[in-house]
Amino acid sequence: MPTYKIGVIGAGRPWRTEGATGFGMSHRHWAAFKATGKAELAAVCDLIPERAQAYAQDHNPAAAIFTDYRKMMAEAKPDFVCVSLWPHLHANTVCDVAPFKPKGILCEKPMDVDWDAALRMHETCKANGVPLMINHQRRYNKPFGEAKRLLDSGAVGKLLRLEGGWHNFQDSGTHLIDMLFNFAGDADAEWVLAQADARGGRKVFGALQESHGIITWRFKTGVRATYFAGKDYADLGCLIRITGETGVIEINEKGAPWVRMRKEGGAWENPDTGGEGIHDNAAIDRGVADFIEAVEQKRPAVLGSQNALRPTEVIFAAYESALRRVRIDLPLPPGPSALRKLAAEQGVEF
Ligand SMILES: NC(=O)c1ccc[n+]([C@@H]2O[C@H](COP(=O)([O-])OP(=O)(O)OC[C@H]3O[C@@H](n4cnc5c(N)ncnc54)[C@H](O)[C@@H]3O)[C@@H](O)[C@H]2O)c1
Repeated sequence: MPTYKIGVIGAGRPWRTEGATGFGMSHRHWAAFKATGKAELAAVCDLIPERAQAYAQDHNPAAAIFTDYRKMMAEAKPDFVCVSLWPHLHANTVCDVAPFKPKGILCEKPMDVDWDAALRMHETCKANGVPLMINHQRRYNKPFGEAKRLLDSGAVGKLLRLEGGWHNFQDSGTHLIDMLFNFAGDADAEWVLAQADARGGRKVFGALQESHGIITWRFKTGVRATYFAGKDYADLGCLIRITGETGVIEINEKGAPWVRMRKEGGAWENPDTGGEGIHDNAAIDRGVADFIEAVEQKRPAVLGSQNALRPTEVIFAAYESALRRVRIDLPLPPGPSALRKLAAEQGVEF
């Protein structure tokens, strides 16, 4: 069995531990690579050397420590690289790392804070022959997986409509919107119509999130989707509702039963989701295992950037639609996020 050298960029501190500035997602990334039994932690890079040292202490004291990721790439030559930085750093870092041609790069969600940056990171990786995974790991949480299995098995008939709601567009929203694409079979979107209110919004991992918003779009398959963001997202009555020709599937956020389904004229049923909720880290293990297998088999990974681009395009098209007050037909031309101008018009600092 091969042993892959793993390099981590952005050590952070584990969530809710002393000195944490976020979730320390890179700790979860390493746990997922380790779980494959095919990986050794070779190098850790953080601007704050003590964080990289503490990370190595936690996971492999022999790992090399860096404060400059280019130096890490040149000297440690990792096979897989985990980028666990705040969103505005994602594209630049991935584009700097790709020319070193690792076997693969895992980058955290969201792709970036600008649409042109998201496209650039995808294209640069493609041009360098480097598979890029974006951590929309929730596709691998069992409640979502079971809902998808039921939908694909025809349990509620042909898919007609998808609805979802969460806190914002780009942070939790990127997971939810990615999930709607997952249920829609990763079909392309045709157009997007949206509104967003940045007033009262807050920065999450340094990226401005609107306080309230709504996006509706049409897939090229004819399926319609609507996504609600803001404090009242729960008014939807569930996290995601999947409406088919002969029934409905709902995924809830608060606890078991996570999934319920009602066929036309019938009562609600609660399909088994294996005792796992929608936040379980086992999803990251599964996403990384598929990524490594995809690299070995030279096929696209489920969480590959080719799939992450679609929800990302909808999010940036939504800001464009909100700013210009028109329907945006896709593809969305490359450019910076319209949230900058929208926020400025609304008197909010980006
Ligand atoms: N997939 C998920 O469920 C999930 C959950 C939480 C966070 N995230 C995402 O993970 C990403 C990272 O968040 P986090 O919570 O791990 O952050 P964090 O604050 O815990 O860690 C980031 C680390 O990056 C370091 N850093 C900053 N610039 C650097 C540079 N140029 N070179 C090297 N190190 C640098 C910082 O010093 C810090 O230690 C964010 O994009 C966030 O949206 C994803």
